[in-house]
Amino acid sequence: MGNVTVIGAQWGDEGKGKIVDWLASRADMVVRFQGGHNAGHTLVVGDKVYKLSLLPSGIVTGTPSVIGNGVVLDPWALKAEVEKLRGQGVRIEPDVLMIAETCPLILPIHRDLDAMREDASGAGKIGTTRRGIGPAYEDKVGRRAIRVCDLAHLGELDPQLDRLCAHHDALRAGFNEPPVDRERLKRDLAEIADFVLSFARPVWRDLDEAKQRGRRILFEGAQGVLLDVDHGTYPFVTSSNTVAGTTGSGTGMGPSAAGFVLGIVKAYTTRVGSGPFPTELDDETGQRLGERGHEFGTVTGRKRRCGWFDAVLVRQSAAVSGVTGIALTKIDVLDGFATVKICTGYRIGDQTLDYFPAHAADQARAVPVYEEMEGWSGTTAGARSWADLPAQAIKYVRRIEELIRCPVALVSTSPERDDTILVRDPFAS
Ligand code: GDP
Ligand code: IMO
Ligand code: MG
Repeated sequence: MGNVTVIGAQWGDEGKGKIVDWLASRADMVVRFQGGHNAGHTLVVGDKVYKLSLLPSGIVTGTPSVIGNGVVLDPWALKAEVEKLRGQGVRIEPDVLMIAETCPLILPIHRDLDAMREDASGAGKIGTTRRGIGPAYEDKVGRRAIRVCDLAHLGELDPQLDRLCAHHDALRAGFNEPPVDRERLKRDLAEIADFVLSFARPVWRDLDEAKQRGRRILFEGAQGVLLDVDHGTYPFVTSSNTVAGTTGSGTGMGPSAAGFVLGIVKAYTTRVGSGPFPTELDDETGQRLGERGHEFGTVTGRKRRCGWFDAVLVRQSAAVSGVTGIALTKIDVLDGFATVKICTGYRIGDQTLDYFPAHAADQARAVPVYEEMEGWSGTTAGARSWADLPAQAIKYVRRIEELIRCPVALVSTSPERDDTILVRDPFAS
């Protein structure tokens, strides 16, 4: 029995939260390793709906959950989410939630900067979640970050604040904004410190201990491979590495910990925010996908852009992230379509490509080459076994496997936790 790493294989919102929640009961620990509260996961358990952003999805099943050092942590967002979930009856105490002492903090100045930049960018904006994710990662790499462990040393924070504020004040001046209100920042940090510190630990030790004891770890990725800062549709990406390889650096567990890499793949494609999207549909079909799939962002409420399944992009994601098998989600959304299309390549001028080119100008010119398949009139919604799927839906799944060169391990057929078909147990592989 090994570990499992769940990652999104498209532009996020593939249904990672539902699958992590389903797998969590088989895991001993659930661990986030990158991103922050830009993520938004909806979990449906019976008549209860849970919306998570920063907390690992394992928290709902009471599985010990870890926020690793690769995550950027907004203390106030953490408190609000913990309180919201406690209000829904979820138990969140230091024995089930552990936070790495080395997580960099997202501060109000990061949120300000994210918004200022987006507002100043006009049509060129990235369409970020405005949560301060990019600026917080910049400060981490720039060695200016305030980290969780600093909250226990607030009396010694001044030299760090000097560096941080000197940097931000210069940027803020460029936007005609006043300097950082340093005293207020110190007050706010002092107020929130004890709450965050109550969950803070050297989690690398807990994870090492779990490894020594042969415990099963479920790594929970946020966003998706096409939003990866190296491998995604740069610059329309998030500011972290979303690929499975980040599990090692984002937790302190080393490169061999990832185990079975389960790529979560939606049976069609969606994207929220700006950037290239070759199979996007601006027509009635796109509208229908959005309505049937309830494609509105969990975090920002923005309408998600929708289009046909892009096998070229998913094959590329699977390759760069070392995907072992996929969970195909939301196939029920395609129920009732007379025909369905899959993108199998791109035409750029007189060239045909079987991968997505790196340069934005080439990406913008890429015209999808489609393969059309018959749809199915029966329903996949709520199916819990392979035998419940219409024959034509099975053909669709098999064709996807062939095109992306990866086997299907799970199929998800509704938002509900148990409407899931197990084809191959990732933990048993
Ligand atoms: P995540 O960010 O990858 O966790 O995905 P989100 O939670 O943002 O978006 C996925 C949405 O689809 C959520 O509202 C889920 O409840 C829902 N969902 C997940 N799996 C399925 C499925 O198989 N069928 C349908 N119809 N909805 C699903
Ligand atoms: P989950 O985990 C979909 C997108 C934003 C924007 C870009 C950069 O729910 O799949 P950021 O705020 O990260 O600097 O924004 O990334 N984005 C997501 N899109 N799902 C997400 O998370 C996302 N997190 C960020 O819309 O285009
Ligand atoms: Mg989401």
